[in-house]
Amino acid sequence: MGRVQGKVAIVTGGAQGLGRADCEALVREGAKVVVTDIKIAEGEALVAELNARSPGSALFMQHDVRDEQRWQEVIARTVAEFGGLHVLVNNAGLVVPATPEDCTLEQFRLHNAVMNEGPFLGCKHAIPAIHKSGGGSIINMASVATHLGYPVFFAYSAAKGAVRGMTKAIAIWCQMQKYNIRCNSLHPGATDTPMIAEANKLLGIPDEFYTQSGPGLGRPEDVANVVVFLASDESRYINGAELLLDNALVIQ
Ligand SMILES: NC(=O)c1ccc[n+]([C@@H]2O[C@H](COP(=O)([O-])OP(=O)(O)OC[C@H]3O[C@@H](n4cnc5c(N)ncnc54)[C@H](O)[C@@H]3O)[C@@H](O)[C@H]2O)c1
Repeated sequence: MGRVQGKVAIVTGGAQGLGRADCEALVREGAKVVVTDIKIAEGEALVAELNARSPGSALFMQHDVRDEQRWQEVIARTVAEFGGLHVLVNNAGLVVPATPEDCTLEQFRLHNAVMNEGPFLGCKHAIPAIHKSGGGSIINMASVATHLGYPVFFAYSAAKGAVRGMTKAIAIWCQMQKYNIRCNSLHPGATDTPMIAEANKLLGIPDEFYTQSGPGLGRPEDVANVVVFLASDESRYINGAELLLDNALVIQ
């Protein structure tokens, strides 16, 4: 308990899946959390649960990560309500299966708008606020798709590859500026969330696929535990890193 006590975090796409697990774990460990998402009912329901468990711990803000002005409003309100900002989890995401030959320009742009431009805007506007709050940690959700070739997740892989590179540039920039802000990327393998269930359905991948494969299927808590670690000062010397959370999938 209390590993992120006194810290204030924003988690994008926090209403379900990995983002939801991140919010639950951060609150359990003492943080105040701003849950943002385009899914209003789910986000508000989660915040009500978090506040019931830990009064005053969470706020929901409707937020499409493609909207730069809304980023500025979300960050300003976070600072006004919770007194600062220390942690940004750029988690919001989506996947529409399509190969390099099938993928439309619209699909490619959608993936990049949400998962490449979204984290860019988040980092750009959160850096000054985190710096003013005394420093902190930015956690960017990437994927094993940056290390493995997944033709059916072509646009997704492209967007996540950009996040991997962006993370390192931000880590160095913040170090050069002496901002005391770390920035790392997380690269989960298949993890049990609505996103993976939907992708499996579309691609006809049966549940047995994961029980029969060596790495199996990760649980949202597997990712959330690492998010808490990266958000906390325990990870103070981890910066610009890419952490694989894949039970050895990439090295098979
Ligand atoms: N589940 C996996 O196997 C897996 C593996 C590797 C990486 N990831 C990454 O982890 C993150 C979370 O994935 P998940 O599996 O929990 O997915 P999910 O679909 O279950 O949840 C994603 C959340 O993001 C929100 N979202 C989508 N577009 C948005 C937008 N424009 N603005 C704000 N919010 C938006 C959705 O409403 C949803 O609540 C994603 O970035 C995903 O790419 C997931």
